Amino acid sequence: MLNKVVASAPGKVILYGEHSVVYGEPAIAIALSKRAYTTVYPLNTSTIEINAVNYGIKAEFPQERKKIDLKRKKLKILQPIWEACLQVLEYTNTKQGLKLRIESEIPRGAGLGSSAAVAVSTIMAVSTLIGAKFPLQIISKLAYEAEKIVHETPSGIDNTIATFGGAVLFQKGNITKINVKENIPLVIGDTGIERVTKQLVLKVKSLKEKYNDIITSVIKSIGLIIPKALKALNEGDLLTLGELMNINQGLLDALGVSTREIAKLIYAARTAGAYGAKLTGAGGGGCIIALTSPEKQKKVAEAIENEGGKPLITKISIKGVKIEEK
Ligand code: PMV
Repeated sequence: MLNKVVASAPGKVILYGEHSVVYGEPAIAIALSKRAYTTVYPLNTSTIEINAVNYGIKAEFPQERKKIDLKRKKLKILQPIWEACLQVLEYTNTKQGLKLRIESEIPRGAGLGSSAAVAVSTIMAVSTLIGAKFPLQIISKLAYEAEKIVHETPSGIDNTIATFGGAVLFQKGNITKINVKENIPLVIGDTGIERVTKQLVLKVKSLKEKYNDIITSVIKSIGLIIPKALKALNEGDLLTLGELMNINQGLLDALGVSTREIAKLIYAARTAGAYGAKLTGAGGGGCIIALTSPEKQKKVAEAIENEGGKPLITKISIKGVKIEEK
């Protein structure tokens, strides 16, 4: 038995196609250079101790699946991490006390795949500690199971990206890796407004019920962006990628998921010289992404901050889950 393992996994952003993906159109997502880190040590007790450093919360969980009272908010926040440990212990039929320390650079509740990144890094760290060598497909699958318990119907994008890194095309549940030629410099702007993805998906659904022909054509138009974006990603054409982001934002606005706070950050980024900017994920709050040249990232980040957003300078990460130390 090793006495310490550190693993990490990246967060994600949806570049194009949120919401329309729910109606069968394709979407593109990429892994970010911001990561979640899990450090795990073996314990001689029967407990799983979890310390989530960013939230300043610590708790002990049982090593077997048991009904526990999750009403206390801090236990609810740690539940996905406990679940990820249980997935590994059950899959390998192992009993092992564990002590975990989670540190994350990915903001939570903002559509950046933070919970999947934590689940994936935890599964990698715990499986390595107990000497199990999981193929990446198994890591992604177990993280999906852990996400399912917490998120009901995850699309599978977040756990796939956190495991494999890079960029993926997602359509009707099928996930394919795609080629990206250039670095993709991004600035994320967090509105700081938490949102619930399910509510926004329902909002689009009811708009579609009322204006079926109009909304169907907006959704189809978003779908038309994807082949053009794939070509531009393949050629490293940042100018076109930015224009396509602006078009996608206009169509998301038509779907009713943009807000004043989102629009403020988007216009600030565009005015500061971004190639393009749009909301990412469900909308209603959460984050925007701005595509810029590497030289302009700082200026765009400052403009976002001046409008009250929390900026995060990042780029695509080709690397998925990895062992940092053992
Ligand atoms: O908010 P996020 O990043 O989990 O993204 C939601 C994306 C939607 O298309 C709105 C919903 C979905 O399940 O695909």
